[in-house]
Amino acid sequence: MFSRDSEGRATVAGRPLGAILDAAGVTTPAYVYDLGAMEAEACELMGAFGEQPHLVAYAVKANTAGAVIRTLAAAGCGAEVGSAAELAVAVRAGLTPDRLLLSGMGKTVAAIDAAISSGDRGIRAIQVDSVDELSRIADRARSLGRRARVALRVNPGVMADTHEAIATGHDDAKFGIAMRDLDAAYSALGRGVADLELVGLGGHVGSQLTRTDEYLEGARAILAIAAAVPSAVRRPSADGARLELVDFGGGFGIDYGDGCPVRPADFARAATLLVQEGMPGATLVVEPGRSLVGAHGSLVASVVATKRSGSRRWLVLDAGMTDLLRPALYGARHRIESLDAAPTSTDPTWRVVGPVCESTDDFGEFSLGDPPPSRVVIRDAGAYGYTMASHYNGRGFPAEVFVHADGRIATSNAHDAASWIEGRSAS
Ligand SMILES: Cc1ncc(COP(=O)(O)O)c(C=O)c1O
Repeated sequence: MFSRDSEGRATVAGRPLGAILDAAGVTTPAYVYDLGAMEAEACELMGAFGEQPHLVAYAVKANTAGAVIRTLAAAGCGAEVGSAAELAVAVRAGLTPDRLLLSGMGKTVAAIDAAISSGDRGIRAIQVDSVDELSRIADRARSLGRRARVALRVNPGVMADTHEAIATGHDDAKFGIAMRDLDAAYSALGRGVADLELVGLGGHVGSQLTRTDEYLEGARAILAIAAAVPSAVRRPSADGARLELVDFGGGFGIDYGDGCPVRPADFARAATLLVQEGMPGATLVVEPGRSLVGAHGSLVASVVATKRSGSRRWLVLDAGMTDLLRPALYGARHRIESLDAAPTSTDPTWRVVGPVCESTDDFGEFSLGDPPPSRVVIRDAGAYGYTMASHYNGRGFPAEVFVHADGRIATSNAHDAASWIEGRSAS
């Protein structure tokens, strides 16, 4: 957990961040992750389901580090993956096929084949994003001599109260099968019934949800659809009708500094009640990414320059949009604080920016004192941080440091600037 010690130094897992970087032997920019806190986060969420059969499928896209996936898998999580590569990383982290879900639009043949071929009967479910995709998956299953376990990702037509770029369940969203296309999906399922096994239904209304309302609205819509699935396409089961699982997606919000009144467990408890009423016996799947890892990663950066131009004071970091894209991508604000003791006077306001050749490489305005600190910490960067990193401007990827629950420190620095220079020069 991020905190400050008695000397005012920023700490993670009770240790000063600066000392963690020294022990790891890395320089800035560097992500530091608290694996023990991620594990505690997963345990708290899983405890909220009580006796309800459930699968917490960690959305690997939030943070693909093997150490993170292994930590969450050991705590009992499965994984939701969005590509063949993410599937491979999850498998290498030890996740068995029954704990894996493949989603995403535009799935490649490689991803579909890997999902169908995993283990004895394929992964738990391929979440089908369109009617057309059903036929593609049926074709691949036939070629592989297998039956593909599929779940329909439905777009429940819900506008989530979040940033428009991460609201995904409304009528104009690119994801999922629209309600009006469900009949066509059932027809395609009927045609492919020899190759496809419909095991569930799901949806994902959006990310960074700070209230449960729209999540539950989406959940109710999905349960209503599940109740009306034609018997011709349902998987035969002991009671003749039931689907094996229902998946309400991820999206549980975290506190980026403005507060977040609900905890992931609040979503889980409310969703459990709905499933117990509407689909008793089904496995309830949730797909949290951000809420498991976001608050437990910090990006440490050094100040490389200060300057005054116009009416502004600029503070230029060695971390930018190539390390943490969210501010440039959709105006996200991350708290930026001094790594060492916080300044006694918070004036003046600095416009904190990265070194990349884009005006949107801008983290916003922060009061960091005068003189400003030499190193800062960008908080709550554990989700959609490193996974969105790029080599733009020939920049290396930031280092990553993992603080294990037992105090061990490990690093990964696989894509530094030197390997980028090698790769580009050889092309
Ligand atoms: C299908 C799906 N599931 C799960 C997630 C994870 O969302 P979050 O990180 O907000 O929990 C996403 C995020 O984009 C998603 O698209």
